[in-house]
Amino acid sequence: MSLQVSGTMKNNSLTIKVEGRVDSASAPELEKEIFSLCEQNPSEKVILDAEKLDYISSAGLRVILKLKKAKKDIEVINVSNDVFEIFEMTGFTEMMTIRRRLRQFSIEGCKMIGQGGVGKVYRYDPETIIKVYRPEIQMDYIERERACSKIAFTRGLPTAIAFDVVRVGDCYGVMYELMEADNLASTILNHPEEEDYYIEKYASLARTMHHIQEKPGTLHPASEMFRSTMGSMSKWMTEEEIRRYDSLIDLIPQRNTLIHGDYHEKNVLVRSGELEMIDMGDISQGHPMIELGCVYCSHSVFSERVIGMSREKAMEVWKKFCGYYFGEIPADVKPSFERVLTWIAAIRRLPFLCMSPLSTRELIDSVMAEAFVDVEQIKKDFDILDQKLFQD
Ligand SMILES: Nc1ncnc2c1ncn2[C@@H]1O[C@H](COP(=O)(O)OP(=O)(O)O)[C@@H](O)[C@H]1O
Ligand SMILES: [Mg+2]
Repeated sequence: MSLQVSGTMKNNSLTIKVEGRVDSASAPELEKEIFSLCEQNPSEKVILDAEKLDYISSAGLRVILKLKKAKKDIEVINVSNDVFEIFEMTGFTEMMTIRRRLRQFSIEGCKMIGQGGVGKVYRYDPETIIKVYRPEIQMDYIERERACSKIAFTRGLPTAIAFDVVRVGDCYGVMYELMEADNLASTILNHPEEEDYYIEKYASLARTMHHIQEKPGTLHPASEMFRSTMGSMSKWMTEEEIRRYDSLIDLIPQRNTLIHGDYHEKNVLVRSGELEMIDMGDISQGHPMIELGCVYCSHSVFSERVIGMSREKAMEVWKKFCGYYFGEIPADVKPSFERVLTWIAAIRRLPFLCMSPLSTRELIDSVMAEAFVDVEQIKKDFDILDQKLFQD
């Protein structure tokens, strides 16, 4: 097939479709076409769609290299296995993002078995589910979730095996092992006689996870989860307040503890009496108080929406969880623990509140007051917690 090149603009990035063979005879034409499309469609990012690219020779690779020099942000997508091998062999996969062509799946007739914040989960066959992400969810996020699941699995944590990233119509999906299981929230609500047994397991799983230390720089820093949601803040907060929020995040001591990042009863499943974690996209490394502050936040303020429990019930579960996690917290440590907990919960909550259409000035101000506390006190509190609660 002779070479064909066409371009379209979408979301401020230029997608260029390259079809056919690129060799020394057709490379000059590819170069001319690509650079004239870039000139006509100025954009930060260029995506080369290689779905119908059959072959690329070194002359074609040189054109891509030249494009990379001209445009820092380039990505090659939908690459066949044969062409991917060429990119890999020549080191291009280390210089830019190159994504393989994804397998297409249809979910027609498949039963939806779950729904969360980023998409819907379908039972694909008796052993597999497909988590189908909303169309606006970016590939980077999806790949991160898949990679994090794999890391957690290789660290020996109980979680579903993750398979391929696939395409489902216009959306992306990830295939996972199907777990015939109920979530921990329904198990607790439907089997009160087993509540303590499962909450103890829930706390013990968190402790097991929090004993895993990662090498520095292996995973995303946990505190970045707060920064990644800051975009929404300008609607309610002044530039100075946003700067202050940003600097608060640095008060959390650096740690390399593995944390789940979204640990709550709907992201823990009960299979044959054992707990398994799912929804691993926020796996990161950081201080375990980040995780505990977020768990506290989901129980104290997002209980109905996130866990599906009344606040009263969720707080009862939280107290038991804490008891199993720490045992008795010494009386002289408790004030520090409670201050840091409330503070992290406020840091966690603030960006979400700024996004919510139901927020009011009064509510935002009250949560800002919980976040903007005496920083010297917070530093002292962390020192106490590190000496007394997290020394092992
Ligand atoms: N591997 C799995 N096996 C069985 N059910 C699952 C699996 N993964 C997810 N689910 C179901 O789908 C729901 C949403 O999945 P989750 O990964 O938590 O999505 P979100 O990131 O949108 O919260 C879960 O609460 C659970 O009921
Ligand atoms: Mg979830």
